[in-house]
Amino acid sequence: MKSVSVSAPAKIILFGEHAVVYGQPAVAAPVSDLRAFAEIKIDRKLDSPKILANDLNLEFSLSERNLPDSIKYIAQSIRFITQKLNEPLLEIPWRLTLWSQIPIARGLGSSAAINVVLIKALFSATETQYTPYALNEIAFELEKLYHGRPSGIDNTVISLEQPILFQKREKVKFLDPQELYFIIGDTGIGKKTALVVKEVAARYQANNSLYNEIFQVIGEIAREGAKSLEAGNKENLGKLMDQNQHLLQQINVSCSELDHLIDVAKKKGALGAKLCGAGKGGCMVALAGNHRQAQLIATALKEAGAINSYVSKLKKEVC
Ligand code: PMV
Repeated sequence: MKSVSVSAPAKIILFGEHAVVYGQPAVAAPVSDLRAFAEIKIDRKLDSPKILANDLNLEFSLSERNLPDSIKYIAQSIRFITQKLNEPLLEIPWRLTLWSQIPIARGLGSSAAINVVLIKALFSATETQYTPYALNEIAFELEKLYHGRPSGIDNTVISLEQPILFQKREKVKFLDPQELYFIIGDTGIGKKTALVVKEVAARYQANNSLYNEIFQVIGEIAREGAKSLEAGNKENLGKLMDQNQHLLQQINVSCSELDHLIDVAKKKGALGAKLCGAGKGGCMVALAGNHRQAQLIATALKEAGAINSYVSKLKKEVC
């Protein structure tokens, strides 16, 4: 076993959240400057592996019972990953340190990013070869443990670290976007994806034909959005983001805080804006015409009540 240091990005969904759960295509991109990190070091002074969750200021052993909810899933993921490895990992004295810049439960893929760094760290530390696709498969298994019925978009964009057009059961399509500037605004409201997805499912059951129609239009927006992203057609991208937001409002996953930030971004000149991820809180994303405007919008969002804002430059990442 060797010492290693790894990281994984946050993600934004530019088009198609929720509809993607029902088989429609969606567009997502990594946020390279906002990352989760993991480091493994061998420490002969330890009698068993230890996990240090830096942001929570908590150290624990995998064998410990009654772990707080905030870290139970980290321990569960590590046990799941160690079962995949042909190494007596739990008998070796290592310390895994985990930290993240990605706000939790805000639609930026924090849990998928944590799972991806755990897989990368444990596989690399045991010198087990893996491809980004193998990484993605394990990350998807973990997502299913926690989120019930995930589409797989979060683990895919974070594992492959490239902008993608994603559709369940289809081969993922890598996108090659022009240089674009997006602004992420955080309402500060945490939300549980599984809960919002379940609420949408209940409304879908009650109003099947309307929801199918809406999801289909969202799917068409995502397909057109993917083309505009590659063509660098900012005006059309902005228009499609607005249309997508309107449909997300119709399925009742926006909220007044998201609508307010979206409104502020648009008034500051954003070409389009929408919520990002499950909604009912979390983050919104807006498209700017250029870097300078993106910075102005990011500042305006904070002044208008966002607890944080980030500028993300989109470009193709090499896998
Ligand atoms: O976990 P979030 O907030 O990034 O949401 C993921 C996107 C959804 O479409 C709402 C759920 C899914 O599994 O695709």
